[in-house]
Amino acid sequence: MNIILLGAPGAGKGTQAEVISDRLGIPTISTGNIIREALKTGTEMGLKAKSYMEAGQLVPDEVVIGIIKERLAKDDCQNGFILDGFPRTIPQAEALDKMGIAIDKVIDIEVTDEAIVKRMSGRRVCEKCGASYHMEYKLPQKDGVCDKCAGTLVQRKDDHPDTVKARLEVYHKETEPLKDYYEKQNKLSVVEGQDTVEHTTALILETVEA
Ligand code: AP5
Repeated sequence: MNIILLGAPGAGKGTQAEVISDRLGIPTISTGNIIREALKTGTEMGLKAKSYMEAGQLVPDEVVIGIIKERLAKDDCQNGFILDGFPRTIPQAEALDKMGIAIDKVIDIEVTDEAIVKRMSGRRVCEKCGASYHMEYKLPQKDGVCDKCAGTLVQRKDDHPDTVKARLEVYHKETEPLKDYYEKQNKLSVVEGQDTVEHTTALILETVEA
């Protein structure tokens, strides 16, 4: 099954992608994680993306479309995939359609802006493996240390409140119109993401397995 997860920054796309990936045995493709990895290793693409990302702006369409084309061509995507963070603009969605890839479901996770700002200030990520935690909702076993690889937990630069506000503005302007785009294709399911992680997961799995 080919799935797109839509939603504002911090709506829980990454968290829920992990659950669906385990349940269906298909990979998650997160453009955010791919760009952060490129940034860490200092590739040309990473350097191009750095200033956009740190300011909470979108990386240019041609860069992310190139990333996705390359990633979807890999063998592990043959039996399905979850797109987390792509597409984020109408031109990106059109590019995906032009690649001739059939999307089965688009799941939009709905969370209010107020809840997003609160969530993001508590998020911590492992600087080594990228695993995500929360100071209130998903604590690591040992303070400041990743459960998975013992890496150090840090706050993402773009999770600072001012940048989160900029990301939300970009989301409402550029990404929210995708709901209409996929509604017209009869692919959109809207899931309430305001409650606990477990509650959202139950709703998502119901949608995936319907
Ligand atoms: P990206 O990394 O994709 O960031 P994002 O979409 O803004 O989403 P996040 O990863 O911040 O949040 P999420 O929805 O995955 O939430 P999570 O599960 O972590 O992109 C970063 C940047 O890269 C962009 O700003 C842009 O510059 C660039 N980029 C990426 N893709 C691009 C594209 N296609 N085009 C152009 N540029 C692109 O949850 C958030 C926190 O809340 C966690 O701490 C989690 O534990 C907690 N949480 C989750 N669910 C709940 C819940 N139900 N209750 C309480 N807490 C919860």
